[in-house]
Amino acid sequence: MRVLLAGATGYIGQAVLRELVSAGHEVIALVRPGRALSITVSDDALEDQSDTVTVVEAAITPNEDWTAPLPKTDVVISCLASRSGAPSDARLVEYEANRQLLTYAERGGVQHFVLLSAICVQTPRLAFQREKLRFEALLEASPVPATIVRATAFFRSLVGQFERVRAGKPFLLFSSGNLTACKPISDRDLARFIVARAAESPQGTLILPIGGPGPALTPQDQGRLLCETLGQPFRSTSLPPEMFDWIRWLISPLGLFSRRMRDRMEFLRIAKFYATESMLCWDAEAKRYNAETTPEFGSDTLQDFYAKLASGETLPPERGEHSLF
Ligand SMILES: NC(=O)c1ccc[n+]([C@@H]2O[C@H](COP(=O)([O-])OP(=O)(O)OC[C@H]3O[C@@H](n4cnc5c(N)ncnc54)[C@H](OP(=O)(O)O)[C@@H]3O)[C@@H](O)[C@H]2O)c1
Repeated sequence: MRVLLAGATGYIGQAVLRELVSAGHEVIALVRPGRALSITVSDDALEDQSDTVTVVEAAITPNEDWTAPLPKTDVVISCLASRSGAPSDARLVEYEANRQLLTYAERGGVQHFVLLSAICVQTPRLAFQREKLRFEALLEASPVPATIVRATAFFRSLVGQFERVRAGKPFLLFSSGNLTACKPISDRDLARFIVARAAESPQGTLILPIGGPGPALTPQDQGRLLCETLGQPFRSTSLPPEMFDWIRWLISPLGLFSRRMRDRMEFLRIAKFYATESMLCWDAEAKRYNAETTPEFGSDTLQDFYAKLASGETLPPERGEHSLF
């Protein structure tokens, strides 16, 4: 199949690109002007097929006909995401850019639109979650068959303390470290899931929450795994998740005058959300997250990933603009 892949320069987008190429699909990778596609086609099997990727540089904006250079495609996969999570950027990327991709799909008779979303939109409290949901609603109303992949936490989001623990510092936890849990998924497993789904032909719109192989891990479990992998005793320091609220209240007067400060305040809301909410399926009736009902996929485990980082076999993934630790 011929696939238009948006967000091909991102963490999951790169993995999806590798997976599409290795599965023999033709890919049109849509990247921002001047943005090099940093795909490392390191394995030989991929090198042979890398000529099946066409890179199209275009800004997905309503002001220009960015679709002009695009050939007809069977499937659109969007791995677009706001890199900052700031409200205006979230609106521009999570909603506006995706909306334009959908218009392209509707006009071009695309057979399937696959959206990488996040499981956290089930309990929306943040600007980027609301923008994601606005776009998910558009997808559901569109005649284009669609799959919305609501993923749990990526490995990348769970390696921020690797260096500090290796340096002998304690693992930082919020409260007891058991407030939240997730079923971490690797970029490779998630990409495999997305590409397998993309090749199917759904009726209407499917919403698929997805995690990696269980069991669900709390931050305390993750800290213990990391220490065990590094051959160190588990030591932790507990922080109150309310600290994000305190800092937000402190800087809130500045938010009246400065957009930068308002963006900071949103980042603090995001940090508080992830310190206190699980990345698992939400049971609205029982009002709790449920590990049992959170589907699992793949075989890569966080423990193996930590071991590969420790041995140097894998380099720590590049982290986002606003990584906490
Ligand atoms: N982190 C987690 O644990 C987690 C868990 C579940 C779900 N998710 C969701 O997974 C999705 C993808 O995450 P990711 O980590 O792969 O994201 P990422 O690495 O930040 O990549 C974002 C992609 O979107 C592109 N993009 C950003 N702003 C753009 C714009 N204005 N115009 C065009 N392209 C733009 C980026 O292009 P450039 O390279 O040019 O910036 C990049 O290709 C997000 O929706 C996120 O919410 C994340």
